[in-house]
Amino acid sequence: MLNLNVKINASEKTYPITINNNEIKDLYYEITNIIGKNNFLIVISQKVYKLYGKILNFPKNKTFILKDGEKEKNFKTYQKILNFALKLKLTRNDFIVAIGGGVCGDIAGFAASTYMRGIHLIQIPTTLLACVDSSVGGKTGIDTDFGKNLIGSFYQPDAVIINTNFLKTLDDRQFKTGLGEVIKYAFIEKSCKCPEEYNLINFLSLNSENILAQDDKIIEELIKSCISLKISVVEQDEKEGGLRKILNFGHTYAHAVEKLTNYKKYTHGEAVVKGIEFVFNYAQKMGIIVESYKFIAEDLIKKYNFKKIPDFDIKKVISVMKMDKKATSENIIFILPIDYALVKEYKMFDNEILKYFD
Ligand code: GLY
Repeated sequence: MLNLNVKINASEKTYPITINNNEIKDLYYEITNIIGKNNFLIVISQKVYKLYGKILNFPKNKTFILKDGEKEKNFKTYQKILNFALKLKLTRNDFIVAIGGGVCGDIAGFAASTYMRGIHLIQIPTTLLACVDSSVGGKTGIDTDFGKNLIGSFYQPDAVIINTNFLKTLDDRQFKTGLGEVIKYAFIEKSCKCPEEYNLINFLSLNSENILAQDDKIIEELIKSCISLKISVVEQDEKEGGLRKILNFGHTYAHAVEKLTNYKKYTHGEAVVKGIEFVFNYAQKMGIIVESYKFIAEDLIKKYNFKKIPDFDIKKVISVMKMDKKATSENIIFILPIDYALVKEYKMFDNEILKYFD
């Protein structure tokens, strides 16, 4: 039986991240062990509720079922969650428990961070993407018409519980969207300055068949490596003043793709993979990396057969990228590959990008 317990230190708070493959019904006890006699609100994704609601057996009157999809991560739903918490008369000692993918964790986390200026939060990610990235590190938020995650907070949970059994019911596309973030970690690994060395590029390249077949042991190893890299980054720079920006590798272009397609056509992970391809191309055209490293990246990505995203009109992409919250009024910020598993932040003007892609 797998049972890993790592700790992360952020916001002067240390919290456990447990990775296990216990029976899903045990989650009730794992959660109530943390919550004790305090009150709680469960925010659970509809899909997860349909599959596991009965087994989890949480009281219905304390359960907010969150409809699925990025478009639910909005002001209205956020307000509904807060009203639910108010109706339950939650106090500052009480808990919000998020059970679902990235959307669920982000919006429930944001509600927890603002309800009475912050109540306790437990993150239970049920998708690969949420396991390896969004549930750890304290980013919470909602989307607006102006872009994704423009309203949010840094708010560390009290615990993260990852039960890998949830991943067994993910469809292929949902599973692969998580792999998009996993691939991101491979190309930023050395910049994460983690004491452990994983050589994820190699690992992903050698184990692609087992990973795509969702081999339990390999997936657990993968989750642990990605989380360790994320912990290392967040502990060094919780509020994204510097180092944490590397976690946005591939994301500048990806956010533009998602916005241009109304968050409907491609999953986040698919867009991130397109963004990674873009920065590899860009870095090679600029002479920052050698062509052979770009080929290594392309070969690795090819092994996972992600949904192909066509090139977008670069001028349109630039205008959307300029609205990204990480952009300044003049510059667009890219995290570019500079060497094997190493990346660096670059601030670019429109014309510098157009020079290579127009
Ligand atoms: N997902 C990027 C970050 O947590 O900073």
